[in-house]
Amino acid sequence: MLDRRLLAGLAGGLWAATTASAATCTSDLLIDNFVKWTSGTNNLDWQNGDDGSMTSIAASAGQVVFVPKADGSSYFYESFPCVTAQTSGYGGLQFTIQGPAGASVSLELQTATNCNPDTTGMKSSYNIITDLTGRRQTVTMPLVGFDNDPNYDAIVGLAWSVFSQANTQWTIGNITLLCGSVAGGQPTSVAPAPTTASMSTRLFRVWRFDGMKMG
Ligand SMILES: *[C@@H]1O[C@H](CO)[C@@H](O)[C@H](O)[C@H]1NC(C)=O
Repeated sequence: MLDRRLLAGLAGGLWAATTASAATCTSDLLIDNFVKWTSGTNNLDWQNGDDGSMTSIAASAGQVVFVPKADGSSYFYESFPCVTAQTSGYGGLQFTIQGPAGASVSLELQTATNCNPDTTGMKSSYNIITDLTGRRQTVTMPLVGFDNDPNYDAIVGLAWSVFSQANTQWTIGNITLLCGSVAGGQPTSVAPAPTTASMSTRLFRVWRFDGMKMG
């Protein structure tokens, strides 16, 4: 499997070396509104996509529209230059999502040990987003409460997977890091990930070990 994340990570090291800044944020950081989908990147000019894991995927205004496979292998990811979210003042994450009423999905936060270099100590941390309404809704979550003790000062990617219903259309849109403090506690549609090691391990392999082997 082509490892887009690792390639992006290596490129990011170069980027970080020349332009890294931990200045306090003054506005939200738009990761992806899918205007660059056809050129294969997000708004930060880094890789996004599904690596062919979906039955179908396409972008429309502000969002990506996809149909997960029934075998549970589908995921969608965003990679970007390592973000020192805590130091820079990004307090939360926001995106729109539409899935079947009552559905759930896992959100993976990918972090490194620190941003320089941003390719060591990679780990995956999870939150489960539950009880979707069946309509497009906005999920706003503070950067707290992900499992596996991530370093919120070294965020390198996001991935959505474990879609509870397959063979039906989902959307994810306007993926943004929010500047400033985001109300503590979890919104009602977001619950902390259960400590299901099996799920984490499986995802970790799909997303990370396969990739690292390619390096
Ligand atoms: C994305 O954000 C734009 C600008 O706020 C908004 O007009 C649009 O409805 C949003 N679309 C989605 C899919 O979230």
